[in-house]
Amino acid sequence: MTTLRTLGLAVLSAAEPADKLAAVRQMASAWDEGALEIGAPLPAVPDRPARPHSPVLMPPKHMPKRTYAGKAGRIALIHALAHIEFNAIDLACDIVCRQWDADMPREFYGDWVEVAREEADHFDLLLDLLRSLDTQYGDLPAHDGLWQAAEKTAHDLLARLAIVPMTLEARGLDTTPSGIEKLRRNNDPITADALEIIYRDEIKHVAAGVRWFSYLTKAKALEPEDHYHEMLARYFPGGLKEPFNHDARALAGMPVSWYCF
Ligand SMILES: [Fe+2]
Ligand SMILES: [Fe+2]
Repeated sequence: MTTLRTLGLAVLSAAEPADKLAAVRQMASAWDEGALEIGAPLPAVPDRPARPHSPVLMPPKHMPKRTYAGKAGRIALIHALAHIEFNAIDLACDIVCRQWDADMPREFYGDWVEVAREEADHFDLLLDLLRSLDTQYGDLPAHDGLWQAAEKTAHDLLARLAIVPMTLEARGLDTTPSGIEKLRRNNDPITADALEIIYRDEIKHVAAGVRWFSYLTKAKALEPEDHYHEMLARYFPGGLKEPFNHDARALAGMPVSWYCF
């Protein structure tokens, strides 16, 4: 039987970019029809989603530093962002597919279907930019940091929400506005405009993290701020980095005391 979870698994199992995009859109349009069941827990959710042969994955510290100037710098930046969005598609689908230690309402699943759909749109937008620069996803190496965060938190939904949307995606909110400014200064309005679209959507993704983290801590009679700090200490020992984008974090519903402490 086709369920949200079997359609999510089809996304995780698709290796090639075009196939993964098609699978997300199939899942999202089936969900939009309104009658799709979440479905029984799957016998297994892959620890690692299917990946194309390229890009070659390297440790994060071996990746070149981002630059915002020149054609090569522009390609490297867009390629790095495309890789993040490709992973983000799978991260949203992994939340949908996995059997967590909590009963979550239908709206929870709807939020992550919407996140997956937007990550697919972001990836597609960046693929178009790469094509306009005569290159494609896979032509450069990429790093595996995002999926490592997923593997560390695969056993605990509160840990996953704390680390992936509320920490890693929130970090994107902190860094993106200055990146957009640098691109505009370097006369690259096309990439800057793409990043503006992504930035606006990412506020919603952080908000979904905060909303469901708050819901689930309440359901488990945990204090959300203390529990977020505990999750950071356990899974993100390097700590959060300033400067913070207070406006965007406030729009996402994250109280200042959660990240300034
Ligand atoms: Fe995204
Ligand atoms: Fe996102």
